Amino acid sequence: MNDYAVVIKDIKKVFGTFQAVKGISFNIKKGEIFGILGPNGAGKTTTLNMILGLLKPTSGSITIEGYDNVKNSIKVKQLLGFMTQETVVDGYLKARDNLEIFARLYHVPENEIEKRVNKALEDANLKEFADKPAGTFSGGMQRRLNLVKSMLQEPSILILDEPTTGLDVQSRVGMWDSIKKLNDKGITVILTTQYLEESDALCDRIAIIDHGEIKAIGTASELKRMVSEGNILEITLKPEDIEKAKKIMTSKFNLEISTRGDIIRSNIEKDSMGLSIKIAQYLEKEKINVLAYSVHLPTMDDVFIKLTGASFRDDTSSENIASKARFRR
Ligand SMILES: Nc1ncnc2c1ncn2[C@@H]1O[C@H](COP(=O)(O)OP(=O)(O)OP(=O)(O)O)[C@@H](O)[C@H]1O
Ligand SMILES: [Mg+2]
Repeated sequence: MNDYAVVIKDIKKVFGTFQAVKGISFNIKKGEIFGILGPNGAGKTTTLNMILGLLKPTSGSITIEGYDNVKNSIKVKQLLGFMTQETVVDGYLKARDNLEIFARLYHVPENEIEKRVNKALEDANLKEFADKPAGTFSGGMQRRLNLVKSMLQEPSILILDEPTTGLDVQSRVGMWDSIKKLNDKGITVILTTQYLEESDALCDRIAIIDHGEIKAIGTASELKRMVSEGNILEITLKPEDIEKAKKIMTSKFNLEISTRGDIIRSNIEKDSMGLSIKIAQYLEKEKINVLAYSVHLPTMDDVFIKLTGASFRDDTSSENIASKARFRR
């Protein structure tokens, strides 16, 4: 009947005179892991808070499993589990006690608490640490504890705000495993992330958001195909050679190019390995030293650059340096 877990129609959020979310619409299918990918300040948390009903949209509407999240806020709250951007666990309490306290806060029936807490510890791969104080846990373990805490009231939709930001690679993979485990049980997952590879590895579909606007929505491969059916050529040169090389690549090889610092890049056709080698040889012949050279399929990084220009906004300005720093790989 209703295949959508969440339907968002043209939501806007204005803080004073600042438009943090500028009229975005998208649907999230039941059972999918849906990623909202964007840099700092893009409007990710604001969007999640509106889905959760914690923040009222300035305009627009959100329905959760067919219920309007303003008119049916109580029903909707039962359907949603939420993990905030900050980890909230009590370091002095054992993992098990942390979960028990939250189970009571969520009004889990008393005769259900033990069962749900044990299940949560298992989902978080923390069974053997159940009776250790949470303060002795690594960042990744604390984050997994935080994750399963949001599952205690058995929501059908789990909302995670930057679940792996700040974690090392190994802990991030552990977190992905726990998220996938929950998703395999049929839970719809909506998460925000600043990590390109996280959206690629974990999400069924991704919405790219920047400056409060949706730039594109699709599976990782759909988004990559939007960048190019072919390959991306990247050539790294000495800064003093950039202008000359740019001229050669546009006039001699008729390519559309963009630059990032000392890297020139261009979309090239699928079978143009030969062309890219020819370009490198030509540049060398013109006494331009090719420091590095790569031909690769579009990555999520390329998608982001194409859609938002984040790394390419303005090569020399401090804003560009800041915008590069805004995005984590
Ligand atoms: N209560 C508020 N009052 C005023 N401005 C706000 C408020 N909340 C958020 N903003 C602004 O709205 C924009 C979007 O913020 P939001 O927290 O949604 O971004 P984000 O994508 O979650 O960023 P981050 O990755 O840093 O968490 C930012 O410019 C932020 O400063
Ligand atoms: Mg945020």
